[in-house]
Amino acid sequence: MIMSKSQTSKVRQSTSGLENQLVGGKFRLIKAIGSGSFGEIYKGVNIKDASEVAVKIEPTNAKYPQLIYEAKVYEQLGRGPGFPTLLHYCSESHFNAMVIELLGPSLEELFNMCKRKFTLKTVLMLADQLLMRLECVHQQGFIHRDIKPDNFLMGLGRHVNKLYLIDFGLAKRFQDPERHQHIPYRKDRNLTGTVRYASINAQLGVEQSRRDDMESLSYCILYFHLGKLPWQGITASNKKQKYERILEKKNSVPIEALCKSLPSEFALFMKYARNLRFKEDPDYVYLRQLFRILFRTLNYQFDYIYDWTILQQQQDQRERLQKEYQLEKQQLEHQQQKSRIRHTQVYRSERNLQQLEPDLLIK
Ligand SMILES: Nc1ncnc2c1ncn2[C@@H]1O[C@H](COP(=O)(O)OP(=O)(O)OP(=O)(O)O)[C@@H](O)[C@H]1O
Ligand SMILES: [Mg+2]
Repeated sequence: MIMSKSQTSKVRQSTSGLENQLVGGKFRLIKAIGSGSFGEIYKGVNIKDASEVAVKIEPTNAKYPQLIYEAKVYEQLGRGPGFPTLLHYCSESHFNAMVIELLGPSLEELFNMCKRKFTLKTVLMLADQLLMRLECVHQQGFIHRDIKPDNFLMGLGRHVNKLYLIDFGLAKRFQDPERHQHIPYRKDRNLTGTVRYASINAQLGVEQSRRDDMESLSYCILYFHLGKLPWQGITASNKKQKYERILEKKNSVPIEALCKSLPSEFALFMKYARNLRFKEDPDYVYLRQLFRILFRTLNYQFDYIYDWTILQQQQDQRERLQKEYQLEKQQLEHQQQKSRIRHTQVYRSERNLQQLEPDLLIK
């Protein structure tokens, strides 16, 4: 059984503090780099070749284990571009571990770094890749069901400009691999995923399909440009009421009003996503084309220079300068210490000589 993320937050503690632990005989955990509702994510190192990895940990006694399921989804997704490679899966005495390719910061982290606003250029460069990732997942017969900025990560090294989709713990097959039969329509589901980005139908209890991933993506894109969605920050005396109010807001704000500060393509995308039928195959190419034409009309260059690229370069430069300064300081201190020692030695030898001299004189 797959459960909603909010139901699972109690399992965490036992997977923290695993630094230095060896996993699968060759991956050493270095430090925690993220935590989610199902466990902890560590940065690790392959002790055989010193390559860095990410390790997702789940306690063996988790009420609803799902890591092995996630590993299987990764396996079935294959080595498609924009999905971390699955390197290993194993069970240790107290926890299960999934070793995957180490990636960079999430779009949520980068969004914070950019003072919670992305320019249109960045949003459009992201939209193009976001649509490609969803198309690829759907082509493999899966829906993600937790599309949100925290689950999109940028790569590292030569993949620094590439967008990755992670976190397949809530993914589901919507089509069987042999006969390509679609799952049936139902309307008795609990919400799976994150309420802020959930589609209206998902909140109404309708079985999710490709259209819900698309609607969530349209909310993410809007969030990146607006900085905040109108249903963020809604409070209520309990979770049920809060969810009802969020749904009310999603239903009541007209799409045109939601997207009024943006070119019309954004409203078109959201309307398209909301109007998709349960079993309909979204036209990803049409949507990408829509944004690509807009990109060209605005005279932008598809140069992968995102809003954070310059900030990161400045930060890297600052860190480099800081390191150089520290090194110079250490060298100077070392030299000063050496010359102090020399002075002391000279002083001592002079004093020894003075003490010796009377003796010498007597002799
Ligand atoms: N391969 C990776 N490389 C670097 N960081 C990662 C990697 N995988 C996950 N993370 C970090 O750990 C966080 C949590 O990972 P993930 O989403 O897989 O866990 P989760 O328990 O399903 O989380 P949540 O419930 O918050 O969605 C990510 O948002 C990201 O910051
Ligand atoms: Mg996640």
